[in-house]
This record gives sequence, structure tokens and C-alpha cells, in this order.
Amino acid sequence: MHILIFGASGHVGTGLARHLSASHRITGVVRSQPVARAPYAPVLVPDWVDRPRSVIDELTRTDAQRVDAVIAAVGGWYVDEAMIDRGIASFDKDYSSYLRSHFAACAVTQALADSGTRTEAGARADAGASAEADRSAESEASAEADRSAESEASAEAGRSEQIRHLTLNGVASVEACVGSGAISVFGAAQEMLLRVAAAESRSVLFRELKVMAPIGGDDRNDLSGGVETIGMSAVADAAGEVLSRPGDFELTTQLKV
Ligand SMILES: NC(=O)c1ccc[n+]([C@@H]2O[C@H](COP(=O)([O-])OP(=O)(O)OC[C@H]3O[C@@H](n4cnc5c(N)ncnc54)[C@H](OP(=O)(O)O)[C@@H]3O)[C@@H](O)[C@H]2O)c1
Repeated sequence: MHILIFGASGHVGTGLARHLSASHRITGVVRSQPVARAPYAPVLVPDWVDRPRSVIDELTRTDAQRVDAVIAAVGGWYVDEAMIDRGIASFDKDYSSYLRSHFAACAVTQALADSGTRTEAGARADAGASAEADRSAESEASAEADRSAESEASAEAGRSEQIRHLTLNGVASVEACVGSGAISVFGAAQEMLLRVAAAESRSVLFRELKVMAPIGGDDRNDLSGGVETIGMSAVADAAGEVLSRPGDFELTTQLKV
């Protein structure tokens, strides 16, 4: 697969790129050029959140291979004072880093699907769906049975070829994390963002991977008291499985220690 990663410069994005590049082509959307050699091909779009369309333009300009899947690992992590004490400016900033960025990443994936960068088989599946709509005027019961079998097959084929969008989320989205409150608020909303996008889109398969423990190697995590971590390779394996076989996974999957 050709996987496009948002948040490629971050701990999770870079780690996923490093692991997944063994078997996939990885392009990372970045706001500034990486200073060191990166495990992804960087595509520099400083204002991709405000102008999601510019990502498509840049991919087109650089003649990039068709994108099969998108990973959104944007956001980050902090533990600080209480959410309300941090004030509205801090809340706005976190909205930008979390929910707003995830919205923009979803918008890019939808635009990729709409602009025909998806596979031909995906387009054939859509053609099958519209042919089905035409046929719905027919009234015989036997035709109805044929139609539903055909539609089932077409939906299956479409599922295997639609662009996939995987968003990374964490335990803060299901627990009120003291000192990381806005991350909890926007993490919880992130799942609903995906649910709405999934309900409204015929051409993108939206999935979420909730990593329910700190990911190994992130120095920002407080591991005192024997907190267990999840290794980056386990996260990458899980992400790879969801992207390869999205039909086997619900909209959201929890990865536990
Ligand atoms: N780290 C963990 O232990 C852990 C555990 C569970 C789940 N997760 C999930 O993994 C995801 C990524 O976390 P991380 O640890 O990799 O964070 P990170 O190291 O802080 O990286 C954050 C990434 O998001 C980008 N970003 C932040 N604010 C942005 C904005 N306003 N506009 C555009 N891009 C922005 C950053 O880009 P720039 O470099 O350009 O700023 C960077 O690439 C989060 O959603 C988190 O819920 C992480």
C-alpha cells in the first residue's frame, strides 16, 4: 500500500513509518522539513490543516503514486494543570492540534477519494452501486434476489479497494485524564468525528485505533508506579492489520497491554 501519514514528524507517526516502511511505501505530510533522515518521503505542506486541498495539489505536482491509505497521528501529549485553569487560549490551541487537525486529515482523505486517486476497482464498485440504483425500478421478486446478491458482492469488492483512513487515539479519549483534560475532550470528540464521517461517506473506510497505554519510547509519559507500555511494533502491527483488512474491524479498535 501507499500510506500517507499526517503527524509523520511526531513520536507515533515516525515510529509507524519506520515499522510500516518495511512492507509499504510511506509518504509523510510535514509542516517543516525533517532535519534528519526520515523513514518516510516528506511532502512539505506547512498549512495543510487550513488548506487540506494543498496536500492533493502537492501530491499531484510531485507525481506521487495513488494513495491507498491515510494514517492520522496528529496531536501529542502533556500533563499540566487543570484544564479550566489552563484557560480558553490553551483550550483553543488544543482544539487546533487535535480535533481540527483530525478534521483536516479526514477532509484530505475524502478529497483523495473524490478526486479519483483511489483504485480503479473502487470506482468500479461505485459504478456497480449506481447501476443498482437504476435497476431498482424493476419490480420482480427474482430480480430483487439477484440484485441483493450482486450488491453484496459489489459492496465487498468496494470495501477491499476503498481508501482507508486510520486515526490514532489514546486512553484519554475514554477516561477523564487529570492534567490532560483537553486531550480527553477532543479525543472523545475524535471518535464521533470519525463516526459522522463514516456515516456520510461512501468512498472512504474510516477506522480508529485507540492505544490504551503509553507507547514505548515516549519520554513525556510518566511511567512511575510500574505503568506498562505498548511497544511501537505492536502499534504498527495493529495499524497494518486494520488498514489491510478493514472489513474485519469495527469503526474503533482498542489496543491494550
Ligand atoms: N505517545 C503516546 O504514548 C501515545 C499513546 C497513545 C496514543 N497516542 C496517540 O498518537 C497520536 C500522536 O501522538 P504523538 O505521541 O506522536 O504526538 P507528538 O509526538 O507530539 O506528535 C504530534 C504530531 O502532530 C502534529 N501536530 C500537532 N499539532 C498540530 C497542528 N496544530 N497542526 C498540524 N499538525 C500538528 C505534529 O506536527 P509538527 O511536528 O509539525 O508540530 C506532530 O507530527 C495522538 O493522537 C495520541 O492520541 C500516543
